[in-house]
Amino acid sequence: MNSIKNIIDLLKLEPHPEGGYFKETYRSLGEINEDNLIEGYEGNRNYSTCIYFLLTSDNFSALHRIKQDEIWHFYDGSPILLHIISELGIHSKHVIGRDFNKGETPQFVVPGGYWFAAEVINKNDYSLVGCTVSPGFNFKDFELKTRKELISMFPDKEEIISKLTHQ
Ligand code: GUN
Repeated sequence: MNSIKNIIDLLKLEPHPEGGYFKETYRSLGEINEDNLIEGYEGNRNYSTCIYFLLTSDNFSALHRIKQDEIWHFYDGSPILLHIISELGIHSKHVIGRDFNKGETPQFVVPGGYWFAAEVINKNDYSLVGCTVSPGFNFKDFELKTRKELISMFPDKEEIISKLTHQ
């Protein structure tokens, strides 16, 4: 079996600021002009982008949000647990994986503007997924907030926010 380090090397993954490793695998050549994007985007965006994202069980992907919907696709390893906090502060959990009898799904769409975080379900394991967005990804649309800031936005979610933030 491939070691995690081997997969990171073979797929040329780099550390991601939210935790885990990633590599952009697709960025459309075509662009959407800022005038045709909904309010809040600054500048043009590619039609679509896609990444590999690998998370290990000794880490987690910290709560963050982007403006556009993000489609997660399961590829390999442990099922992955996605935590979603809606703009109104409703927390839900979704398992992306291939054990369909257990209710896992191989795809999940995180709605734009929702806060989300991810954890590998199995111990000593990794999850390899894909994340596709349209309009294409730009770090200008990516928001990571501190534990304190998020708790002040959603005071009744202190426990889960503390677990899913690095600082
Ligand atoms: N490119 C760099 N980081 C990300 C991310 O978090 N999501 C997506 N979809 N693309 C990215």
